[in-house]
Amino acid sequence: MNQSFYITTPLYYVNDRPHIGSSYTTLIADIIAMYHRMKGEDVFFLTGTDEHGQKVQQAAEKNNLSPAEHCDIYAERFQELWSYFNISNDDFIRTTEARHIRVVQDVMQTLYDRGEIYKDDYEGWYSVADEMFVSEKDHAEGKYRDVRRISETNYYFRMSAYRQRLIDHIREHPGFIRPENRRNEILGFLKQPLKDLCISRPKARLAWGIELPFDEDYVTYVWFDALLNYISAPGYGADEEKFRRYWPAVHMIGKDILTTHCVYWPSMLMAAGIELPEAIFAHGWWTSEGKKMSKSLGNFIDLETIQSHCDHVGKDAYRYFMAKEGPLFSDSDFSKARFYHTYNMDLANDFGNLVNRIFKLIKKYYDGKVPPPGTLQEDEQEMKKAAEAVRDAVMEHLKALDVNAMVSEIIAYVSSVNRYLEQKEPWKLAKSDPDAAGRVLYAGLASLRFSAALLYPVLPEKTAEFFSMLNSGEKPGRIVRWEDLSAGTELGEMKALFPRFDMKRLETND
Ligand code: MSP
Repeated sequence: MNQSFYITTPLYYVNDRPHIGSSYTTLIADIIAMYHRMKGEDVFFLTGTDEHGQKVQQAAEKNNLSPAEHCDIYAERFQELWSYFNISNDDFIRTTEARHIRVVQDVMQTLYDRGEIYKDDYEGWYSVADEMFVSEKDHAEGKYRDVRRISETNYYFRMSAYRQRLIDHIREHPGFIRPENRRNEILGFLKQPLKDLCISRPKARLAWGIELPFDEDYVTYVWFDALLNYISAPGYGADEEKFRRYWPAVHMIGKDILTTHCVYWPSMLMAAGIELPEAIFAHGWWTSEGKKMSKSLGNFIDLETIQSHCDHVGKDAYRYFMAKEGPLFSDSDFSKARFYHTYNMDLANDFGNLVNRIFKLIKKYYDGKVPPPGTLQEDEQEMKKAAEAVRDAVMEHLKALDVNAMVSEIIAYVSSVNRYLEQKEPWKLAKSDPDAAGRVLYAGLASLRFSAALLYPVLPEKTAEFFSMLNSGEKPGRIVRWEDLSAGTELGEMKALFPRFDMKRLETND
C-alpha cells in the first residue's frame, strides 16, 4: 500500500468571521497535502470547526439562536469558503458530531478509570474571555481579560506527571516541534513545574459542551474536547485500520496555540497510551497594513474582502501570495499594495509573460505546433538539469514543511527561463536559424510545462488552464519529466493566464 500522510489544521472557532489568518493555515496545509498526493502518497487532510464553549454559547445568544443553529451557520460558511479557495480537505470535522463526542467520552472514561483524572476544589482567578483559570502572577500582570474570582469543584487531568517524559521526547525528536525557535520556547516553558489541567466546567455555568461520562453535572473543557478531533476524525476506536494507516499526524498551527498543542495534547496522548504526533509546526502571524489584527482596531481582513480581490486577479493569486509571502517563520504584513505587486512581479511578469511569448512565437513561426528539440546544446542541457535540481529542492523543502522556499525555488527557475529567452532572442533566430529557434522554444516550453506541473498545488486553476492551452492531453497533478514534452503537438487556444493588474486602480479603489 502507498505510503500515507496525515496533515491537520486547527479547528476554527465559530464565534468569529473567517479572516486571512484562518485561511493561511488552511492554505499552507492544503499545499503540503497536494504535494504529498503528487508524490503518490495516500493523504488524509483534515480541517473543521471547534464548536463548544462559552464564547460560542454567548455568540449564539447574541444572535438569538440556539448554539446548534449558530454552529450550523458558521460550519457551512467555513466549508463554502474552503471550497471557494479550492481547498482539498478529505474530511471536515465538527466537534458537535456524534463520532467526535463518542471518542472524547471514551478517552475521558479511560483516563478516569486509570486515575489520571481526579476531582478537586479550586478557589482563584478565572478569565471568562479566555475560558481559563489564571494564576495569581498572571492576574497581577494583567495578562488575561475579564478575570473574576471563583470558587468551584472541578475535574483535573494529571498533566504535571508528564513533564519529564515530554522533555525527553522533544529532545530525542528534533523535528517534533518546529521551527527551532518554537521548540526552544516550549523547552523553556517546561523548565518550570507543570500544573495539572482543569478539564471540566460545571453545567450550571456552561451547558454547551460534551458531558463527562462519569459525572452528568459537568461538561469538558473546550480544549480537551477540541484537540481530540485529530484522532476522532481518522477513526480512533471506530475504524482501527484507518486510524493506524494515518496516525500520527503533522499538525499545522499558528504560534498562538503552541502550548495547547505541544504540552496539553502530547500529555493527553501519553496518558491514553497513544502515539504522539509526528510533528507540530507553528507559523507566525499576519499583520494588516503594518498593524496587529485585533477586534478593537477592527482591522481584521475578512475573507469576503479577499474574495473581491480575487475577482480582479483570480483565486490562485491569493494562494500564491499566502504561500510565497506568508508568515511561516516570522510575522508578515498583508497590504493590498504588496498583494498586487507580488502578483504583477511573479505571476504577470514572470510566468504569464513567458507563456504569452512562447505561445505567440510558436503560433507565428511553427504553425502552432511544438517544434522539435533537435540536439540539445549545453544551455538547454543546463536548463533540464536545473529543472531536476528544482524538483529535488522542492521535495527537500517539503520535508521541512517550508512552503515559502518551495514556491521561491520554482519562481526563481521561471525567471531564469525568461532570462534564457532574452539572451537567445528566438524572435530573431526564427528568421536566421529556424532549427536553433525551434530548439530554444522547445526548451522554453519544456521548462514552463515542468514549472506548471510543479506549481499545481499552489495554482490549481491556472496550471489546469495552462495544460489545456498546451493541449498535450495531460492534466496537472503529477510531477513530469522536462524532456517528455512531445514535439508536433498542436497548441490549443491562447489565453492571458495572468493579465497585469494596473496599480493605479488601487488609488481609485476600483
Ligand atoms: N479553536 C482553536 C483551535 C483548536 S485546535 C484543536 C482556535 N481557533 S481559532 O479560530 O482562534 O484559530 C486559530 C488559528 O487561526 C491559529 O492557530 C492560526 O492557525 C490562525 N490564525 C488566526 N489569526 C492569525 C493571524 N493573524 N495570522 C496567521 N494565522 C492566524 O484557536
